[in-house]
Amino acid sequence: MDVRLDGRRALVTGANSGIGRAIALALAEAGAKTAVNWVTHPEAADEVVHVIEEGGGTALAVRADVSKPDEVAAMFEAVDKAWGGIDILVNNAGIDGKRQLGWESDLDAWRRVLEVNLFGAFHCAREALRRMVPAGRGTILNITSVHEVIAWTGYSAYTTAKAGLSMLTKTLAQEAAPHGVRVLSLAPGAIKTPINKDVWSDPTMRADLLDKIPMNRLGEAEEIGRLVVMLVSDVAAYVTATTVFADGGMTDYPDFEKGG
Ligand code: BGC
Repeated sequence: MDVRLDGRRALVTGANSGIGRAIALALAEAGAKTAVNWVTHPEAADEVVHVIEEGGGTALAVRADVSKPDEVAAMFEAVDKAWGGIDILVNNAGIDGKRQLGWESDLDAWRRVLEVNLFGAFHCAREALRRMVPAGRGTILNITSVHEVIAWTGYSAYTTAKAGLSMLTKTLAQEAAPHGVRVLSLAPGAIKTPINKDVWSDPTMRADLLDKIPMNRLGEAEEIGRLVVMLVSDVAAYVTATTVFADGGMTDYPDFEKGG
């Protein structure tokens, strides 16, 4: 089966690094016009656009801090201006914040994680739905994490944001389904990207991480990119209001292999 997205217009947030970059490249390879959102490192966004154009695709770098509603609105207007609308939104932009126990947390840092990971996704989804609902079609894919269901000491802001994003998916999906718009989540496990480099580049921490993954390896960003293409395509036309996990079995709690 050849999964194609020719003629679709996509926007990927946080698309100049890690999983977002791989998603943007995969969507463009499948034929979608792809807007590459960034907030820092413009040169990295330009590189993604360059790679897409070299491959014969169409791309556009668009700056916006997703936590700022005005910047998000301007970004969607820029995409409207270039391509006349949007068919696919991938809410990928995210930060995990500094590791800090709940009772030791710096409130501004805690709030920032929620502002980017949860409010940011909502700001973008709101703009996208304002276009997709009247058009009667479109797909929003929120990148959550295994930490939408797995607690994680030191990361209460991150886990709270991801669990919230999962429920935001379901509620927006219920609102949008009668209008032909799908909203779903994809929850990656440990994917080898800059966000967790401190873990996979340290032998002891890496071994501990691998113990948590039945498949005994980290995922590659390209594996998430390919899955995103499937989920936003018509192959998944009947999939909405749910989370698809791509985690090598991390949510299968491998410690139970040893007994319960
Ligand atoms: C985090 C990674 C982590 C993975 C598994 C992701 O959401 O961003 O840093 O390795 O979850 O714990």
